[in-house]
Amino acid sequence: MGVAVRVEGLTKSFGAHTVWADVTLTLPAGEISVLLGPSGTGKSVFLKTLVGLLRPDRGAIWINDEDLPSLPERRLYEVRKLFGVLFQDGALFGSMNIYDNVAFPLREHTRLSEREIRQLVREKLEMVGLLGAENKLPGQISGGMRKRAGLARALVLDPQIILFDEPDSGLDPVRTAYLNQLIIDLNQQTDATFLIVTHDINTARTVPDNIGLLYHGHLAMFGPREMLLSSTEPVVRQFLNAQRIGPIGMAEEKDATELEAESQSGVRLPPLPPIPYQLQPSNGQYRRAERPPGQWCYEHGVTPPPGSFAAEVPA
Ligand SMILES: Nc1ncnc2c1ncn2[C@@H]1O[C@H](COP(=O)(O)OP(=O)(O)O)[C@@H](O)[C@H]1O
Ligand SMILES: [Mg+2]
Repeated sequence: MGVAVRVEGLTKSFGAHTVWADVTLTLPAGEISVLLGPSGTGKSVFLKTLVGLLRPDRGAIWINDEDLPSLPERRLYEVRKLFGVLFQDGALFGSMNIYDNVAFPLREHTRLSEREIRQLVREKLEMVGLLGAENKLPGQISGGMRKRAGLARALVLDPQIILFDEPDSGLDPVRTAYLNQLIIDLNQQTDATFLIVTHDINTARTVPDNIGLLYHGHLAMFGPREMLLSSTEPVVRQFLNAQRIGPIGMAEEKDATELEAESQSGVRLPPLPPIPYQLQPSNGQYRRAERPPGQWCYEHGVTPPPGSFAAEVPA
């Protein structure tokens, strides 16, 4: 049932610039987590550090009983096969058709015959709804299809951990809804552990089991979805509700004078919006990590915002 990723005290800098410090969180096995944060806070750097493409300055990344940053190169190469990564633009090879792009990791990492490869490639293309587009070049298909092709390639080695870097960037709302449904369905079918970086607040509110927020060089909060969606911590509240009022400024953190002016100006924060239901698998079964709506709030004595978990039109 998937594998947990336990990150402890992770710090990453480039030269004198510390991207983030002391990040500690656990991606629970088989669950979907979302990582949010303003642009440039190091979300992509975090994903690349998890898969071992970048080396942290300090800290541990535990998977099963191995700490990735301290593994020798050969072993790291093996452990990396646990990961499937969907990079921001799909990162397909432009001169290879979709079939060869998806087959690439199999040809690179396995000794399967072309017949076996063919079966696996077709299976993954079917999962992402791309059967029939095998012979197209990446440049000949839409952005949404390229993302799905990238996803098929990320899935082809049956990864236990799948990382998505802004899978929904550049997609219109309808395609984003389809992609989100695909992510929920894949999580239900594969039992892998998912981490999704996104800027889409609707995605963040309805897709994950857990939410994290990177802000100003550290992890502001990480925990169950209901914990963040009911939080009144100023940064979390501002970001998850896409508000202008709060500590996050246009370029960076607002300074004390700006915040003082804001609090003097009498503008009031709008109330927290209701917590929506989680997106459900399309086969009518439960999500892999299904918990009754409101359970976290109830167990922690938190009153969810008015109107939460009320019947509403699903996104
Ligand atoms: N290879 C690199 N060398 C130096 N600085 C980098 C490198 N990759 C990213 N950075 C810096 O790290 C910071 C975080 O970048 P990134 O993870 O891409 O942000 P995000 O994905 O949250 O928008 C940025 O300031 C970026 O310039
Ligand atoms: Mg990024």
